[in-house]
Amino acid sequence: MLVLGIETTCDETAASVVALGRAGNGDIRSNVVLSQIAEHAAYGGVVPEIAARAHVAAIDRIVARAMADAGADFGDLDGVAAAAGPGLIGGVMVGLVTGKAIALSAGKPFVAVNHLEAHALTARLTDGISFPYLLLLVSGGHTQLVAVRGVGDYLRLGTTIDDAVGEAFDKVAKMLGLPYPGGPHVEKVAAAGDVRRFDFPRPMHGRATPDFSFSGLKTAVRLAAERIAPLSATDLADICASFQAAIVDVMVERTRVGLRAFREKVGGPPTAVVVAGGVAANEAIRRALQRLTDEAGLRLIVPPQKLCTDNGAMIAWTGIEKLRLGMTDGLDFAARPRWPLDKSAATSPNGKA
Ligand code: KG4
Ligand code: ZN
Repeated sequence: MLVLGIETTCDETAASVVALGRAGNGDIRSNVVLSQIAEHAAYGGVVPEIAARAHVAAIDRIVARAMADAGADFGDLDGVAAAAGPGLIGGVMVGLVTGKAIALSAGKPFVAVNHLEAHALTARLTDGISFPYLLLLVSGGHTQLVAVRGVGDYLRLGTTIDDAVGEAFDKVAKMLGLPYPGGPHVEKVAAAGDVRRFDFPRPMHGRATPDFSFSGLKTAVRLAAERIAPLSATDLADICASFQAAIVDVMVERTRVGLRAFREKVGGPPTAVVVAGGVAANEAIRRALQRLTDEAGLRLIVPPQKLCTDNGAMIAWTGIEKLRLGMTDGLDFAARPRWPLDKSAATSPNGKA
């Protein structure tokens, strides 16, 4: 089975061809990702209108490259998958219309993919793990703990009530004058800092449901920075280190609560704990989660960085998972700016579920 996947929900224009591997995992034949970071950097965040235009300008060439790299023609495909949301509506429409057009002209089945579902299933693409597992999704747009019970069967255990964790990194970086996107810069600067200099809050600590909150932490960082301004290089490093230490503590404690919720609601332990999203690149967070899962006797899976951040391979893989189950979508499938993974869960207050 060979599927083309297209991703345009945020600031990456991406396309990939994936085949179903012998071991039940995915065989990535091509994976082309064009990041728009340079276009948005001056604004300190993604500008939806700029993103949509950049997707239009790039999508044909990115799809053509993905097909060429895979050595495949549209006729060789068993299906075409495109992310149909959640995300920035203008960008989503670009990838969705492109995918539909290819499916229509090549006479192939079409699959409209939920971008969050694609992140959730990536560990099956890379490691072929079985259900059910606990997903910690940590990106610039999402912070959720999800019980992944099967294709299309997700139970959201917890989510953020305000900012996403990557967003907290980006906003803190911005207030400290570090470049966008802030996460990697904060991590780098933090390496030389003192994690104990500032006692920043650990929001939601002790809360029985595995939800997240970051706005109070962000405010505490701003107040500390204002109090000691102008910042020396040491001040900057200490603030970043203390901030990151707070985030690490939050991730570990909330995931521990998430594991408890998983056992209660799913009725047994997960096959693994999976971390996905751009923030999974953070070494301090990975190390702390490794300690947690070692203690719990569980396997931790962090897919390689290029599959943790937005990409077309995860969309193609989700297409494969759904096609195998006979699930396809009509060409009238509309873009969904909001599309919760767990249909029974209320949309979080920030709309980021
Ligand atoms: O998943 P992603 O590429 O895009 C979406 O948000 O969908 O995630 C990007 C986010 C940004 O907020 C970025 O600052 C954060 O991931 N990030 C990091 C690190 N690398 C990327 N945050 C903390 N530490 C990092 N090393
Ligand atoms: Zn994403």
